[in-house]
Amino acid sequence: MGHTLSEPLVERMRGFGTTIFAEMTALAQQTGAVNLGQGFPDTDGPNAMLEQAVEAIRGGLNQYPPGPGLPPLRQAVAAHRKARYGLTYDPDGEILVTVGATEAISATILALCEIGDEVVVLEPYYDSYAAAIALAGAVRRPVSLRPVHSAAEQVGGRFTFDPDELRAAVTDRTRLILLNSPHNPTGTALSVEELQHVADVALDRDLVVVTDEVYEHLTFDDTRHVPIATLPGMRERTVSVSSAGKSFSVTGWKIGWICAPAPLVRAVMTVKQFLTFTHSGAMQLAVAHGLLREMEWVEALRSSLQLRRDRLADGLATVGLTVHIPQATYFVIGDVRPLGIDDGEAFARSLPHEAGVVGIPVSGFCDNADVGRPYVRFAFCKRDDVLDEAVDRLVSYAARRRA
Ligand SMILES: Cc1ncc(COP(=O)(O)O)c(C=O)c1O
Repeated sequence: MGHTLSEPLVERMRGFGTTIFAEMTALAQQTGAVNLGQGFPDTDGPNAMLEQAVEAIRGGLNQYPPGPGLPPLRQAVAAHRKARYGLTYDPDGEILVTVGATEAISATILALCEIGDEVVVLEPYYDSYAAAIALAGAVRRPVSLRPVHSAAEQVGGRFTFDPDELRAAVTDRTRLILLNSPHNPTGTALSVEELQHVADVALDRDLVVVTDEVYEHLTFDDTRHVPIATLPGMRERTVSVSSAGKSFSVTGWKIGWICAPAPLVRAVMTVKQFLTFTHSGAMQLAVAHGLLREMEWVEALRSSLQLRRDRLADGLATVGLTVHIPQATYFVIGDVRPLGIDDGEAFARSLPHEAGVVGIPVSGFCDNADVGRPYVRFAFCKRDDVLDEAVDRLVSYAARRRA
């Protein structure tokens, strides 16, 4: 297909035009619906951390920080990884600060994939993965997450993958396995056993694992996040990605980082320096403070999110959805089939009009249409009054449906 002024976008990025988030947010505005679509909190992060950023700006930290990131942030990331997971990374050479996890993932894929290389990715996947893979001229090979059977009627099972499907997805062109745990949108935190399946494949086939761990601290009940880099033989071949956005409720700051062996960091840095070079020194310094001093605040956020998860899950169950209780993240997934509806997308499009609530259909994050079709994702990282309003609306919608 040729390039014209009326269709100037390169072919590999066509189809990434309007995201479902933009569409559903517009629908929320049109209908006055409560927007549980996009995953951002509506309260601020820890006050002392915000003050640090303000002071740093007033103090003149307003020019380009070093390309790899400010040393205090790299040191704080190293200290945090060591204290929490027992993983040792050298702040000089094994840690790179990025513009959120999004740039970390895009730069990593662009740095490591030749045109035509394949990336194995869990589906449903976070939408930027597909775009980054396309941008690199690479090819995605999805491995589906499906719910395990659950005996309870209104509670759906946890989502997991079939290890045989994972093994079968790897070909001679596979370069990376792109993981996301805790996982958006299913809320699955992969267990050691599941991670071991991934590690076995990566070790057998000499693959690099890129793991998106932005929800590492937002796990519920007795779930603990396990980084795949802690498994034997995996630190050497893993690019671990995280960011401050979710942990500290500063999604707009876009301070992220990777931890990886030096040759992998050098490769990613080579690309990253020409995407953005560097950004936001004041916020980097404030996030260093967060990682060192605000983990109690994060723990309080975690437990409050767990309560809010339960609040929204109960509301969705009242509507009659089968609710898949997440082990982590900002999101809960509802299965619409008990309502006599097959298509989650149609349901999600009707819900703003019918109930005054917005959720995101999961089908948009899958290559295999059947995997996501029955599900809608709702964000519970909102204030209690917002969630209560959504639940009230869902309850009266359910009552109207029954009448
Ligand atoms: C799984 C996942 N990865 C990455 C991101 C983006 O992270 P950042 O804002 O740090 O780029 C999100 C945000 O929703 C996410 O859910």
